[in-house]
Amino acid sequence: MIDENGSALPAHGVPAERVLGEIRELRGRDRPTHGGRLFAYVYDPGVAGLDELAAAAYAECAHVNGLDPTAFPSLLTMENALVGAAARLLGGGPGTSAPEAVGSVTSGGTESLILAVKAARDARTGVAAPRIVVPASAHAAFAKAAHYLRVELDTVPLDPATLRPAVADVAAAIRPETVLVACSAPSYAHGVVDPVERIAEVAAAAGVRCHVDACFGGWTLPYLRRLGAPVPAFDFAVPGVTSISVDLHKYAYAPKGVSVLLHRDPALRAPQYFAYADWPGYTMINPVISSTRSGGPIAAAYATLRHLGDDGYLELTRRTREAVRVLADAVRGVDGLRLVAEPESTVVCFTATATATATATTDSGPDLFVLVDELAARGWHTQPQLTYAGLPRSVHLTVTAAVAPRAAEFAPDLAEAVAAARAAGPIALPAELLALAGSLSPQALTADLVAGLAAGLGLGGGGGLPERMAPVNTLLDAAPPALRERLLVEFVSLLQRPTH
Ligand SMILES: Cc1ncc(COP(=O)(O)O)c(C=O)c1O
Repeated sequence: MIDENGSALPAHGVPAERVLGEIRELRGRDRPTHGGRLFAYVYDPGVAGLDELAAAAYAECAHVNGLDPTAFPSLLTMENALVGAAARLLGGGPGTSAPEAVGSVTSGGTESLILAVKAARDARTGVAAPRIVVPASAHAAFAKAAHYLRVELDTVPLDPATLRPAVADVAAAIRPETVLVACSAPSYAHGVVDPVERIAEVAAAAGVRCHVDACFGGWTLPYLRRLGAPVPAFDFAVPGVTSISVDLHKYAYAPKGVSVLLHRDPALRAPQYFAYADWPGYTMINPVISSTRSGGPIAAAYATLRHLGDDGYLELTRRTREAVRVLADAVRGVDGLRLVAEPESTVVCFTATATATATATTDSGPDLFVLVDELAARGWHTQPQLTYAGLPRSVHLTVTAAVAPRAAEFAPDLAEAVAAARAAGPIALPAELLALAGSLSPQALTADLVAGLAAGLGLGGGGGLPERMAPVNTLLDAAPPALRERLLVEFVSLLQRPTH
């Protein structure tokens, strides 16, 4: 039994079995990572024995330090093998369009993107105020990179019909200070592939690097293509693409903590490194943000790739594609819902045909936030996406291979959840609260106001989350992005309180 108020450091050590029991008990409160009913955060191939293999490989190398490849050549070998596999898949390596491609293993997509921006920034030391150009659909990690690296972010709006930027707008956004143009293959929110060829062309014409963020789907797109899907060119086969990121902890199904950042050649990678010898300790040479790095994730990813193999990924992609088809059909079959985009990768994203709100009663679509809760009550964990820049609120499903055996169960549950959401009606927050969310400036948010809002929404008290998130999502949806950020920082910091 866990002591909720206990710290991790008891006066006297606790026996191993009890400690593991505590962790298992805590895990029992999480969303299920396996079983094919979770559509975000976790990528599950549903392959028996793979978890055990990855865990054993992880344990073998958990204490090995990637800080110094000369001390631990095992990690260097595995890292080079992972980068080689990613390069082979994405058009690099001998006999391909980028035979000189090199790369690094990072801790995740965010780190890969930060490093792509750092390399681009540091390649242009003459630019005093560097900028990057990204479509509005680019992952938030680019904004984080811009923030951390003091680079300006120029966001190109999306065409609401295609959910892609117009290439002319990308070209127009490139300035003399632009050090990087980025695009996604595919985007996380909607799963659509940007027009990489034409974006890379305008970037190259301006003499600017072009990064393809294939963190999410870079591992599946080549297999989808082999299965006959119409996947446009997006990798090093495209002239002008200078770097590509692909997360192994997503569709390569490795445990968390592994992404690969590829560059077309070593000269492009050079400014990614950080080296420092001007202190009395060891000379620090880091290709990535961390210095000390556990060998665990690298070994686990290596074991996963070796065990699944190219044919294994092809088969997993085939299953995923079939699951996407079944889920998309389920959405098409429900009155009041529509797909935001025809699935072209492994995302199913849908919205209500008309968004129900508290003030409009004639809408035909259900309140999507209520629907998300109703689906969760039926064991399907989907991800709500808020209204943004003219795009409606939507529901996101990241589909993985483990969903395939369960996919047929989705349609009846979805129909039932929609009926329940309709019967419950849209969330009706007090009009003053919605007006406040729409008008409050983030700076005006006081601690008292946050505490009051959190209490009213059932957040914060005792550190737990309310069972139904629709009221919270409705409030956030009514707020502009800057206020959403502030509110969520405050709400999350209420949850992050040390136990003593
Ligand atoms: C397209 C894309 N890029 C970057 C990231 C960031 O990856 P991570 O969460 O591993 O940092 C994600 C995560 O979902 C993503 O979908």
